[in-house]
Amino acid sequence: MATADQIKSLIRSHTNENSEQFYTIALQVAAHEARLGHGALAHDIKALVDRARKENRPVILQFPNELQGFVLSEEPTTPRSALVVPPALADRVDRVVKEHRQKDKLKSHGLAPRRRIMAVGPPGTGKTMTAHVLAHELRTPLHTIQVDRIVTKFMGETAAKLRQIFDLMYDVPGVYLFDEFDAIGGARTLDNDVGEMRRVLNAFLQFIEKDTSDSVIFCATNSPELLDQALFRRYDDVLHYTLPDEIERKRLIQNVLGSNLPKSVDWDEILSRSENLSHAEIDLACRDTLKHTILSGRESVDLETLRRMLDERKSRLGS
Ligand SMILES: Nc1ncnc2c1ncn2[C@@H]1O[C@H](COP(=O)(O)OP(=O)(O)OP(=O)(O)O)[C@@H](O)[C@H]1O
Ligand SMILES: [Mg+2]
Repeated sequence: MATADQIKSLIRSHTNENSEQFYTIALQVAAHEARLGHGALAHDIKALVDRARKENRPVILQFPNELQGFVLSEEPTTPRSALVVPPALADRVDRVVKEHRQKDKLKSHGLAPRRRIMAVGPPGTGKTMTAHVLAHELRTPLHTIQVDRIVTKFMGETAAKLRQIFDLMYDVPGVYLFDEFDAIGGARTLDNDVGEMRRVLNAFLQFIEKDTSDSVIFCATNSPELLDQALFRRYDDVLHYTLPDEIERKRLIQNVLGSNLPKSVDWDEILSRSENLSHAEIDLACRDTLKHTILSGRESVDLETLRRMLDERKSRLGS
């Protein structure tokens, strides 16, 4: 039987709603029972604790009702290996992960992990994907804030809505992605700018400066010219994305088509056909090729189909 002290501690942790403490004491009871030779009981208690821990994991956070639909919460599964970027950019993404994984060590030396990240670059080059990768690698939820929709919907109350999000950030650590950030970031320089948008931007800058949470704030935009220096200064890192070079294009195609590629491939030709396409467009052309291969009952990818799909994507660009 559990000792009198253990029973009292269990009741105390229950009334204090301290579930971690409750589980710890329950496991002590299990260990105690095991020592007394009650192996089956010890095993059952441990199994109960394991199951409860799994079920009660507080992962996805509930945003206030009026923000539902403007903030999307998920648990991404995109691994770092899927992200194809130049080595220098890859190092900077890895550095964010590394610093966060060891943030306690940094904090013990009075240092903070880099958490305010600005991603800039053309469409379909991996900005949003990087936020997914970070959340997955840090085993934390990703909350995507649809800035453009908040601005359109709430107008005069935008800053107040952003404050609510920053408050939550403090309570619930995670990766917070402010997608289409130019909706507020560009406000300072737009000709038709009204005072309201400037106020929203200034409020955002204040929130970001005052924020002391453990969350990663990831802002993404494809209009660097709209973002002024005052904004860039607030970030720990500015990640620049570009269209994929030959090495990246080859890696991307190999990643998606993998063993479905034939043994011999004329890479020069495939790579020249994919020039000027974004990662996203190449990814889609590869998936279209795969679909065609599967539906036509072939074992491996027909390179002529891949060329056609790449050309099709290119023709959409009007080039
Ligand atoms: N660097 C990359 N490596 C591998 N796949 C990529 C990369 N960039 C884009 N992709 C593929 O394209 C999809 C769309 O990319 P993503 O949403 O990250 O683009 P983005 O840079 O955020 O574009 P936008 O500016 O339009 O928001 C990804 O989900 C992924 O499948
Ligand atoms: Mg994006």
